Amino acid sequence: MNKVFITCALPYANGPCHLGHLRSTYIPADIYARYNRMKGREVLFVCATDEHGTPIAVKAENEGKPPVEIAGRYYEMIKSDLDACHISFDNFSRTTDPLHYQIAQNFFLDLYQKGFIYEETIEQLYCSECDRFLPDRYVEGSCPQCQAEGARGDHCESCGRHLDPLELLNPTCLICDSKPQVRESKHYFFKLTHFQKQVQEWIESNPELPANVRNYALQWVKEGLKDWILTRDMEWGIPVPLEGAEGKIIYVWGEAFLGYISSAAQWARKEGKAWEPYWDDGAVHFIGKDIIYHHSIFWPSLLLGYGCKLPRTIVAGEYLSLEGLKMSTSKNWVIWASEFMKKFDYNLLRYYLVANAPLTRDTDFSWDDFQRRVNDELADILGNFLHRTFSFTHRFYGGKIPQPEKWNDTDRALEEQLKALPERVSGHLDNYHFREGLREIIGLAKAGNKYFNDHEPWKTVKSNPQEAATCLYLCNQAAKAMAILLFPYLPGKAQDIMDILNLDGYEFNWDDAAQFIPAEHELAPAKPLFPKIDDEVIEKEKEALYENLEEKEVMDLISIEDFARMDLRVGMITGAETVKGSENLLKLLVDLKYKHIQVVAGLAKKYQPAELINQKVIVLVNLKPAKLFGIKSEGMVLATQDSLNLLNPGNAEVGEGIK
Ligand code: MSP
Ligand code: ZN
Repeated sequence: MNKVFITCALPYANGPCHLGHLRSTYIPADIYARYNRMKGREVLFVCATDEHGTPIAVKAENEGKPPVEIAGRYYEMIKSDLDACHISFDNFSRTTDPLHYQIAQNFFLDLYQKGFIYEETIEQLYCSECDRFLPDRYVEGSCPQCQAEGARGDHCESCGRHLDPLELLNPTCLICDSKPQVRESKHYFFKLTHFQKQVQEWIESNPELPANVRNYALQWVKEGLKDWILTRDMEWGIPVPLEGAEGKIIYVWGEAFLGYISSAAQWARKEGKAWEPYWDDGAVHFIGKDIIYHHSIFWPSLLLGYGCKLPRTIVAGEYLSLEGLKMSTSKNWVIWASEFMKKFDYNLLRYYLVANAPLTRDTDFSWDDFQRRVNDELADILGNFLHRTFSFTHRFYGGKIPQPEKWNDTDRALEEQLKALPERVSGHLDNYHFREGLREIIGLAKAGNKYFNDHEPWKTVKSNPQEAATCLYLCNQAAKAMAILLFPYLPGKAQDIMDILNLDGYEFNWDDAAQFIPAEHELAPAKPLFPKIDDEVIEKEKEALYENLEEKEVMDLISIEDFARMDLRVGMITGAETVKGSENLLKLLVDLKYKHIQVVAGLAKKYQPAELINQKVIVLVNLKPAKLFGIKSEGMVLATQDSLNLLNPGNAEVGEGIK
């Protein structure tokens, strides 16, 4: 395997990039691409914007502009965001490119001719006011599973379920708000069921699939696949290339994958090369965890139908939250890539998002933690090691790497660690363990600092010049190894280090990382590489971010003192009766050990009075008394809001407080 086809999930062209996108998908893929190039493999690294689908169509309708114009605007933004983070694509195309249409339509046609796509007439929601069908996000209603309002035709944000528009309760047309009807329409289905066994075998027998992808995918395949509706009645999209299919387009997920191929084909045209050998040597898809289903089930099935080699693997990055809360673009609880990189060096972001947690775990971006890692790890460990090495070389050796004179055990130990490093980091990167690889490199800087301290060259340069010379010789070699191995992670900083080492024009070749620079080689002037971030800078960012939180009322934060004002206790219901004239309320008598109180609670829809007797419950006891239906209520029995499940204190004693 000497060629690698690397892709990133195609970002939807309906918003700019935020740190979540970068964390799960684009930064890991770029590290992998750069690393493979340095290993001498031929890399084809492609992506494109995903420009179809209802969110873009709806946005266009709201703004009164053609969808392609909206998509074009975001294409430019996304491209510049990814450039700012130095994602080194060989090609970044668009799914509205004519070449993509051609490839996607041919693919569809091929599957149709092979009998893997069939027609069927089904019922769909139709808005007679707007005179059109309402696929996916053109309808809103309540979720049939969790009852949450504002569920979209294809997805409920609240419980995360995939929905069919027909399942929605109280559906309304998103454009005109009227109540849709049900109408028949002919659609095209992909025979997903046909590929169930083959996909399962592929997942089970592919040793490179990471555990998160394998486990999810196997679970779904074993639950059984259903045939997949591959078309929609709408204008915005790639027309179904069949007679009698006028007004129908290919569902966005039925063509977006082909963006990997069409972007590669566009590259091939520009470069006058062939992209196919890259695919045949092995494709690696980088995605976020929310689209594992699509990539592990839909995509391999489509490829099997077409008769083409399956990808080598799928790497799925888990999610990024922000300051402990789920990111939300609609609530502005988000950090946009462009905003971030206007103020901070992109290398710091790449460092933080990788160092923070393994890719296969959810993680959090917090400003304080970002500052801590930059200051404690980049500045105090890596930056400090490099700085003392370079400035010492300048001060005591006229900027030339000194000749090593004699080696003792600690010299040899550092040399060994350094020589072993490229292989160790490779081992991690070949297995997509990005964080572990980075930790190895930082580990060398840590060891280097200890080595420097132990050898005290600032003393030995006079008392034992041979020892000091060896020390600085080795430290410069370590700096060079770090620069090269850091290149996939922090390309800009790696280049800066190489500039100071005066290895300008040097090829970043992985396997040469531990090869020593000859003594007497002269360094360029040193400069600070990793300045610390001041507290005020972080405070400012936090203030600006939290202002969004308050304005948009994502949630009202309370202090621990606010919480402590609530006197919550374990109580036992000793009396219960219905309330005359109310369907909801029950009058309860609750024993709190030190006293009894009377509570009027909205539990009648779920419980008969008798079944509540002797139940232990949690009660808010210092609530201002109120009268309900003329009955005094002195507290509140805690239960879940809609499902009315009483909170259960387990085997706690009656009267016990809750903190
Ligand atoms: N257009 C589809 C992908 C089609 S691939 C044939 C899509 N686009 S996206 O813009 O929503 O997401 C782009 C990438 O970012 C995906 O890999 C997605 O999983 C990832 N993420 C989107 N939101 C994210 C977070 N909040 N956190 C981490 N990754 C996130 O999906
Ligand atoms: Zn309508």
